[in-house]
Parts: sequence; C-alpha cells; structure tokens
Amino acid sequence: MLLDPDHFKPSIPQDSPNPLWQQLADHKQVFAGTTIAELFEKDPQRATQFSLKTSGLLLDYSKNLITETTRNLLAELARKAGLRPAIEAMFNGDEVNCTENRAALHVALRGGYKGEQHLKINADIQDVQARMQAFVTQIKQKTWLGYTGKAITDIVNIGVGGSDLGPRMVYEALRPYQSQEIKVHFLANIDGNDFVNIVHGLSPETTLFIVASKSFTTLETRKNAEAARAWFLACGGAESDISQHFVAVSSNIKAAVEFGINERQVFSMWDWVGGRYSLWSAIGLPLALGLGYENYKALCCGAHQMDQHFLTAKFEQNMPVMMGLLEIWYQNYFGANSHAVLPYDDNLRRLPAYLQQLDMESNGKSVNRSGKALEYSTGAVIWGASGTNGQHSFHQLLHQGTQLIPVDFIVPLRSSNPISNHHSLLFSNAVAQSRALMVGKTLTEAKAEITEQGADLQRIEALAPHKTILGNRPSNVLLMDSVNPETIGSLIALYEHKVYVQSVLWDINAFDQWGVELGKQLSQAIMDQMEETERNLDFDGSTNTLIQRFRSGTL
Ligand code: F6P
Repeated sequence: MLLDPDHFKPSIPQDSPNPLWQQLADHKQVFAGTTIAELFEKDPQRATQFSLKTSGLLLDYSKNLITETTRNLLAELARKAGLRPAIEAMFNGDEVNCTENRAALHVALRGGYKGEQHLKINADIQDVQARMQAFVTQIKQKTWLGYTGKAITDIVNIGVGGSDLGPRMVYEALRPYQSQEIKVHFLANIDGNDFVNIVHGLSPETTLFIVASKSFTTLETRKNAEAARAWFLACGGAESDISQHFVAVSSNIKAAVEFGINERQVFSMWDWVGGRYSLWSAIGLPLALGLGYENYKALCCGAHQMDQHFLTAKFEQNMPVMMGLLEIWYQNYFGANSHAVLPYDDNLRRLPAYLQQLDMESNGKSVNRSGKALEYSTGAVIWGASGTNGQHSFHQLLHQGTQLIPVDFIVPLRSSNPISNHHSLLFSNAVAQSRALMVGKTLTEAKAEITEQGADLQRIEALAPHKTILGNRPSNVLLMDSVNPETIGSLIALYEHKVYVQSVLWDINAFDQWGVELGKQLSQAIMDQMEETERNLDFDGSTNTLIQRFRSGTL
C-alpha cells in the first residue's frame, strides 16, 4: 500500500534537464511486487553490498527499498545534478549561501579548507582556538577566579538555536567525558522558567556566563543576558566585577562590547559559519570548558574524517550522499514527509532536537536558489526520541500507521555505562525494530499466533486483522563503534553533509533562514501593543482577543 508505486505520484521537477528524475520514476515500478524482505531472499549477501563504513561509523542501509540499479540511478541523478562541483564549491569557500552572498565554511573550522583564502582563514581560526584554549586553561588552573577569589565551578551558556542546540546535545552525548569541577548549564528560552531553573542553586561568585549569539541581536539571548547581569548584581556582584563573570561569542563584536562585554573577552566567529553549523567555532566554548579542550578538538577531528570521506568517496560508496539520496527517494518518489531519528543511547536523546534545526531550518524551503516557487516537495519533518523509550510511545504508528516514515536507528556497539546485560538488550531491541519494520506479520502468522493462544475461531477472525503488520518499511541502522568525541564529531558531520546533498538536488539554499523573520517582526509589533494598554489593537479578532485576555489576566 504505502510503497505501491501507484500510491503516490512522484513529486519531482517537471521538464528537468536531468533525465534521471523521470528515469527513477519509471524505475519505481520495479517495486510493484518486490518487498525489501524478498530482496534479501534473492541476495543473501545484500547486507554486505549495502553497507558503508567510515570514521567510526557503519551504515547498514540494506533494509531499504533499493536495488543495485536504484543505487546507480540515484548516484547518476546526483552526478547530473552537479553534486560533485557543489561539494567542491562548499569546501572551496564559494558563496554557496546565495541569498546572503556568503560561503558556508564550517568544514574550515575542523581543518577542511584548502581554498585560496586558506592562509588567512586558517590563521583566524587558529587564533580563536588558541584564545579558547588559553581561556579554558585559566579556568581549569584557577588562574581566572570569580570576584571573591573563588574558582569558577559553573558555566551558563546563554544562547538559542545554533548557539545552543549543538553544544547542548554534544555535552549530553559525551556525559562520561564531563568535567567534575566545571558544570555547564544551557539557558535558551525567553520563558522565565528557564532562567529561574538554571540559576537555582548557582552562586554569582563561582558562575561564568557565556553570551553566545552570532548576530548578538537575538531577543531571547539579549534578554537572558540582561537577566543574568541583574541576577549577578542583585546577588552581590558589582559592575566592576562583570568582566570576570561574562564573556561572549559573536560575529558582532561591536554589539557585544556595547552590551558590556570586555572586548578582549569576545570570542569571534565569522559570517561564513551558519548558526546551525557553528558548534565547531567558539560556539563550542562550553564544550571545551565542560569536556576539556582536547575532547573538543577530538570532536572536530571526527568531523574532519567524515569531511574527507564526503569530499573524496564515490557517490555509491559515500555515506552522506547515500543517506541524502535515500531521503530523496522516499520523499519525492514515495511521499514520505517525515523522518525519524532514533538513537539507542540515552545520552544521545537530544540528537533529534539538534537535527531538527540542522535539517528543517536548512531544507524547509519552497523556492529554488533563483527564487522560483518549487513544484516538488523538499524538507521533511525530523523527529525522534531515544530507544527503547519510543517503542512504548510512537512505534505503534511506525509499524501499523498509514504513513511511510523512514527511520534511522543509531546504536553503539559498546555502551558508555555497561551494567548487567542492559546493552545487549538495548542493541537487540534496536535491531529487532529495524527487522520488524521490514518483515511485519502476515495475516496467516497473526491467525496462527492467536490460535496458539487458544482463541476460538470467531476471536481469531476478529482479532487477526488488528495484529497484522504490513512490514516492508525502510530503515537504516547506523552503528557507532562507541559514543566518543570522534564518533560524535563524524556523526554530526554526516548529517550536515546529508542535509547539504538534499539541498543541492532540490536546488535550494541550505544556509539561509528567511522564514523565521516574520514571527520575530510580528511578536515585536504585538509586544508593542500589549504594553500600550490604552491603545486600540489592530490585529485580527483572535489576536486582539488573546491580547485582551492577557492584559486582563482572565480567560
Ligand atoms: O532561528 C533563527 C536563528 O537565526 C538561527 O538560525 C540561529 O542559530 C539562532 O536564530 C540564534 O542566532 P544567534 O546565534 O545570532 O543568536
């Protein structure tokens, strides 16, 4: 049903000069009568043929609806779409961010840039990294003290979006590597709950705030930084002590200094680093402080390994390319519009939230690079939660729902916290879920199962359809050697490049985010009118009424 070729009319570029779009639509008919399970019956070596290994990761993509021909057609689609020059353009520092006329050189932050500006850019990066390392050393060696002479024990990173999600996710993922002397907290939401919950139990004498904002204009971050300063002063700190307890990370040094951050304590970043691609820049300062500078560098090293793989591997053997092409295959040819990422490692539970911004803010676009409205689908909804928890929450829909939802299962071979046989049970569950999506349970199998349970014929006939699982649902299994700084770095780079692959094939700009501007503008307009209580409200009836209810404090 879901994967019947005729179930969904391909949503692909019409009249494209790339003939592979239509060739793949024709090829899709192959799967009219072939299931993923049958592909294994035809080729017992399939798992080997559809697995890739690089940078501490192994991708088993054999439980997908693809054959050798499909893979070749998808790779040819990418070649004809100009993916190779697009990859080289990004690594060369070309202005791949076409609406802001900027490069997207996050690969340079981990040593991947060899373009003509490499002397200057690499020198700038090394300068900032040296400053980060020196700062981390001062904090760790207690040569940087609070205003009462005590060592800094708590770091509060004030940032949102790309200035929060990446560092927050990595800090959680690498929990076993966290320093015991310096704890990192992440404050992002403008909601007072977040601020109060974070500072609860902290002392201004031993707390250092990092105001992390590429633009230094983001409302949430500025308001939270002001709240932090007020809290610091109210708890005993003096204006003259501010500089010992506040640093900043920004590309807008002027604004950071105007806010009151000592210029020598602003760690710079550049306009060619997109927010959601920035954890490798000084936005990663909380990681260097909370995990140790060496582990922060190891993270970058892991990403660099994946960069080199992405840059050099043939598309058919290229992990980010194949993952991106599979996404195109299910979204544009089978109508999938969401993708589940299920990490079977509880320290990776924040990975889906991080990938939501990376993927949805990059590929949630509906005009092409030339500004022309698209007639085909692009970015999917990215969601997920750590396993095995999701099995008791949304896996019912994955197995028996009416939507095709491709799944990435991510699971380490070795647990960071091996107790009893828990990791074997976790691993077996991850593998079982991937297999269950593929094989399902036939009506006959369901009837046999119910019969064995002693049910009468009427009960068997009534219950069996409810226990039948169609199967033939695709999933990837991504094995990690273990969860460590290098493998987390390569995992993140893998998804960064997968997102880029899709953006190139869809001919969209992965590096801007104009869609978030309207909400910010409207919230400012509404805020202005909310504060002027006598002013007549000139929005729609719903908005006006909601504002009035807020003003009156009554429902
Ligand atoms: O959501 C919009 C956005 O600009 C993101 O792209 C960015 O990561 C976030 O806000 C925070 O921006 P800044 O780092 O400039 O505060």
